[in-house]
Amino acid sequence: MKTVFSGIQPSGELHLGNYLGAIRNWTALQEEFFCYFCVVDYHAITQSYEPKEMKTRVFEMASDILACGVDPERSVLFVQSQVPEHTELCWILNSVAQFGDLSRMTQFKDKSQRQADNINVGLFDYPVLQSADILLYNAEAVPVGQDQVQHIEFARRIARGFNNRWGKVFKEPEAKLTSTPKIIGLDGKAKMSKSLGNTIALGATDKDIRKRINRAMTDPQREKREDTGNPDKCNVYSLHGFFSTDEDRTWVVDGCTTAGIGCVDCKKRLADNLIEHLTPIRTRKAELVANPDEVHDALNKGAEKARQSAAKTMTKVRKKLGLWQG
Ligand code: TRP
Repeated sequence: MKTVFSGIQPSGELHLGNYLGAIRNWTALQEEFFCYFCVVDYHAITQSYEPKEMKTRVFEMASDILACGVDPERSVLFVQSQVPEHTELCWILNSVAQFGDLSRMTQFKDKSQRQADNINVGLFDYPVLQSADILLYNAEAVPVGQDQVQHIEFARRIARGFNNRWGKVFKEPEAKLTSTPKIIGLDGKAKMSKSLGNTIALGATDKDIRKRINRAMTDPQREKREDTGNPDKCNVYSLHGFFSTDEDRTWVVDGCTTAGIGCVDCKKRLADNLIEHLTPIRTRKAELVANPDEVHDALNKGAEKARQSAAKTMTKVRKKLGLWQG
C-alpha cells in the first residue's frame, strides 16, 4: 500500500470549502492508501492567533474530520505538535532549503502582504516544515489543492537535495490534485474560505444553511424571475453538482434555462439536498462533542503511531548526517 500524507490547519470548525476540497477526498483515499492525516498546529502559529482558543480549534477540526468518516483505526490522525520529530527534521532540512527558492513561494509573498507587520521567519520557513511533515513518513502522494502544488514541488527538491548531500533516505512525494481543486464561495467570486465568510460551516443549523444559500450569488445575467438563466455561469448550480442527484440537476437546467423555475426554487432544492447530506455528519459530530474522550483517544493513538514511524526515519537521518549517537 502506498503512503499518503496530508495536513490541514486547525482553523476551527470545518466548512464546506475544506470538506469539498479536502476532507471528503481523505475519507475516500483510506480505501486505497495508508494515510497520515495531520492537524498542523505548528504551521498555524506563523499567523497571529489567540492561544486560549487553540485547543478548541484543534478539537473542533479533529472531531469534524472524524465525523466526516476518517477512521482512526485505519488511518493515522494526529496533531503535529504531538510529534516533535516534525520540527527536528525541519531544522535539518533548513540546511538543504535554499533562501532564493523560499523567497519565490507565492503563498509566502501573499501572506507577507496580508500580515506586513509580522513577516516572521516561521512564515518564510513554512514550506520546509511542510516538507518535513511529508518526508518523515516517506509519503508518495500528497492530496492537496492547486494552491499547494508549489510547496509539494519544493518538498521534492528538498528530498532530492538531502539524498544528494547525505545519501538516500527520502522518496520524492507527488502532489495528488483533488478532483475539485478550487471551490468558489457563495459570493460567486473568491475561493471558499472561512476568513472571507463566503462559506457554510459543516455544523451550521438548517436555518443558517437556508439563509446563507438564499443569499448566494447566482448567474448575474439573470436579474428577474422572468429572465432565463445559464446554469454554467451559476455557482449555485455548480454546488448542486456536489449534493444533488442527476434528476435534480436536470430539473435545474431545464427550469433555469426556460425560466420555468426561479433562483429561489433552485436554492431551496440545493439547501434541502445539502441538509440531507450533512445530517449524518452533524449527528456523528454531536456524539463526539458529547464524548470528547473518544476524540482525545483517537488523537493520542494517532500520535503514538506517527511517533513510531517518525522516530525510525530520524534514526536513519541522524546516521546519515554523522551526528553524535551517544
Ligand atoms: N500548507 C497546507 C495548507 O495550508 C497544510 C499542510 C501542512 C500540508 N503540512 C502539509 C498539506 C503536508 C499537505 C501535506 O493547506
